[in-house]
Amino acid sequence: MRPDKDAATTESTPMTAQFIPVDPFDLVVFGGTGDLAMRRLLPGLYHRDADDQVPAGCRIIGAARKDLDRGAYAGRVKAALECFIGPASLDGKVLERFLGRLDYHRIDATRDEGWRALAEQLAETPERVRVFYLATDPSLFGPICRRLAEMNLNSAATRVVLEKPIGHDLASAEAINDAVGQVFFEDRIYRIDHYLGKETVQNLITLRFANSLFEPLWNSGAVDHVQITVAEDIGVGDRGDYYDKAGALRDMVQNHILQLLCLVAMEPPAFLDADAVRDEKLKVLRALKPITEADVKAATVRGQYQAGAVGGRPAPGYLEELSADASDTETFVALKAEVENWRWAGVPFYLRTGKRMATRASDIIIQFRAVPHSIFGEATGQIVANRLVLRLQPDEGVRLFLMTKDPGPGGLRLRNVPLNLSYAETFTLRYPDAYERLLMDVVRGNATLFMRRDEVAAAWRWIDPILSGWQARQQPVRPYTAGSWGPADAVALIARDERSWFEDAL
Ligand code: BG6
Repeated sequence: MRPDKDAATTESTPMTAQFIPVDPFDLVVFGGTGDLAMRRLLPGLYHRDADDQVPAGCRIIGAARKDLDRGAYAGRVKAALECFIGPASLDGKVLERFLGRLDYHRIDATRDEGWRALAEQLAETPERVRVFYLATDPSLFGPICRRLAEMNLNSAATRVVLEKPIGHDLASAEAINDAVGQVFFEDRIYRIDHYLGKETVQNLITLRFANSLFEPLWNSGAVDHVQITVAEDIGVGDRGDYYDKAGALRDMVQNHILQLLCLVAMEPPAFLDADAVRDEKLKVLRALKPITEADVKAATVRGQYQAGAVGGRPAPGYLEELSADASDTETFVALKAEVENWRWAGVPFYLRTGKRMATRASDIIIQFRAVPHSIFGEATGQIVANRLVLRLQPDEGVRLFLMTKDPGPGGLRLRNVPLNLSYAETFTLRYPDAYERLLMDVVRGNATLFMRRDEVAAAWRWIDPILSGWQARQQPVRPYTAGSWGPADAVALIARDERSWFEDAL
């Protein structure tokens, strides 16, 4: 799949990104001094500004409890851009323009101060698209929305973005969605799952539905099983307070991994419209076979990292990072999921994610079935069934493993080699961070890559019995060494089906 140079350059494939300008907007980030804002939202907006996608006059307003003025906030943002983009990659003129867009309001969702000043400032530009990005604790989503309503800040041109996690179970998610829904209509609510904004995740839709090659094989007739791995090499760092209450199942599986599963398993939508795509994803979530208390032991594994080494460097254990004596929170989870419908009956989806694993690698692997009969003798070597590897990050790309004749005279030997589409070799772009794409989609009013309320609920409906099953059975967290691929039980989970995780592909 490595395109020959001429085909790549003479066909209509542009090798540079196209930026479609968006309408003028004012964006208010609640949690504007927080980690997400500094690490991803503001750097993302800077990049959009640098590509001239942000119209003149657009304002980016931080709102948080810290007592800062505009200048002090701009100073913090500048420091964050230097840290997360790098001083050498910042353009002086763009930086000045970007910092000039910033403003700040000291606001506490539970107090009156600050709201009127924010409303007055926004009233200066009533014609603009207004985006309220809620990057706060989800318990504040309802209170913030109520305040916005009190200030009449929920007009037709307003969009509200909800960061994950939306609740910690179905009931709490529904309560949050009810509270937000009392202020904003569903089509103005953008529930973000940043995995959907990743280039490679969108490419999955393209791969499936813009090529005729795969779709006829994309079913239980040709596919043996699917593996989805999201491995991180980092630990919980300073997010311990949040993470210890959440754990890997809520933090990664309920949202990111189930969304990936949906995109792999869904039926072709009639067109690429927000509801058409979300309808199909919802059907997948509803077709997931429940994992009940009776199944948790066989179908799930929980793990927690202990001190070890990642990439040759010593790494502390979870409890040390947390400064706690004990915790029952899983930092790793592996699951066997099944989609009970005509297309996927009998095809297991093995899912796993963990922190402080051997390497940072996220892959979707479609393992095809073996050929029904071999015409080759034993001396030629074993025929390995075809495998399609979608590398989400890092080293983004697609690899299709095929059996090939080993070149050379004398005898016939077979070899399993990949056709390799490497993004780095094929495209010369800087890949926009997922948040860049998603923020601009919000301004454009395109909700295709955001979760609808019923999707969030359906995902929790599948997750809740696993959580209660773990509790009822007191399923323990199995230790794994930082820098490994998780606990031995995860190997056993897939080995019971006479299969194994494809670490060689990672
Ligand atoms: C977040 C999780 O949603 O995704 C984090 O809360 C995780 O725990 C992160 O580290 C991973 O995102 P990415 O884009 O780095 O793969």
